[in-house]
Amino acid sequence: MIYSRIAGTGGYLPEKVVTNKELEETIETSDEWIRERTGICRRHIAAEGETCSDMGIIAAEKAIEMAGIEATDVDLIVVGTTTPDKVFPSTACIIQRRLGIKGSPAFDVQAACSGFIYALDLADRIIRTGGATTALVIGSEALSRVVNWEDRGTAVLFGDGAGAVVLTASKEQGIISTHMHADGQYEELLHVPAGIASGYDTVRHEKAFIHMNGNAVFKRAVAALGSIAKETLATNGIDKHELDWLIPHQANLRIIAAAARKLDMPMDRVVVTVDEQANTSSASIPLALDTAVRDGRIQRGHLLLLEAFGAGFTWGSALIRY
Ligand code: UT7
Repeated sequence: MIYSRIAGTGGYLPEKVVTNKELEETIETSDEWIRERTGICRRHIAAEGETCSDMGIIAAEKAIEMAGIEATDVDLIVVGTTTPDKVFPSTACIIQRRLGIKGSPAFDVQAACSGFIYALDLADRIIRTGGATTALVIGSEALSRVVNWEDRGTAVLFGDGAGAVVLTASKEQGIISTHMHADGQYEELLHVPAGIASGYDTVRHEKAFIHMNGNAVFKRAVAALGSIAKETLATNGIDKHELDWLIPHQANLRIIAAAARKLDMPMDRVVVTVDEQANTSSASIPLALDTAVRDGRIQRGHLLLLEAFGAGFTWGSALIRY
């Protein structure tokens, strides 16, 4: 049997930090409201001209270094992103060229905040069926480019950054199972209502911003994360108390706490980065994973549950023996 396992992780956050207090100066909000309702204290914002591939490459290089491989060993690149550098080619192809990798398949996955879980699922399946041996799986987002900085309902919630993992073929089980779902009927609860097929003028129009019905998204997120956790545990015949770490998508501390309660997990077994990074969409899970691997909380042999929810709606999970 061939399995895939995580050989290295990496993360990158832009240098510029915007605090809640700074947002108080431009929109009608307060540090207290943002902390109480979301758990967010600050977010990182990409510099002018800093792109999704710029951030993804730095995260990828760190993951490659931790894995102890060369970039040229990579034979598959999958990038989860909703904010690619260009319409085409894919950000994955841009990253491939800039890392000096030639010939490997490289493509982007657009599943909003579930992008990294979708990308991980695909890379795992390709490795397990012999299509690749060393995959770079990246979540990278320049969400600040689609945030309406005058809309207090969304401006306080998002940030930029990138996270990456190197997955390698292994005789030992690493990725135990992955699960993906979508339900397109909720499109208008969370969307950027502009796109190429709608015409370039529309893209420059104010519609090219995140529009969200926060309350409705909140409820669906809590329900979907609860059901995906149950499905993942049931598929593998694992009891929730066997989990060592929960690594949820980082959108709102109250959603994370609700997901943890359903799994009977104390918050010190939940990786939380939303306070420092806000919601970085497809980058949030690999960034949280990298944080807890590098600070020593996550150790080899630990059982991890990763779970995501995002626009679409999309949701998914991965059960991993690290
Ligand atoms: O990553 C994809 C998934 N995304 C999410 O999971 C986001 C899910 N949603 C949420 O996290 C929450 O719904 C929010 C944080 C967006 C909003 O929290 P809420 O508890 O659902 O608040 P609300 O939207 O019901 O608004 C409550 C009040 C409203 O005022 P009134 O109508 O009660 O007078 C809002 O206008 O809070 C007001 N409000 C704000 N006040 C200060 C909304 N945004 C702000 C703000 N500062 N930034």
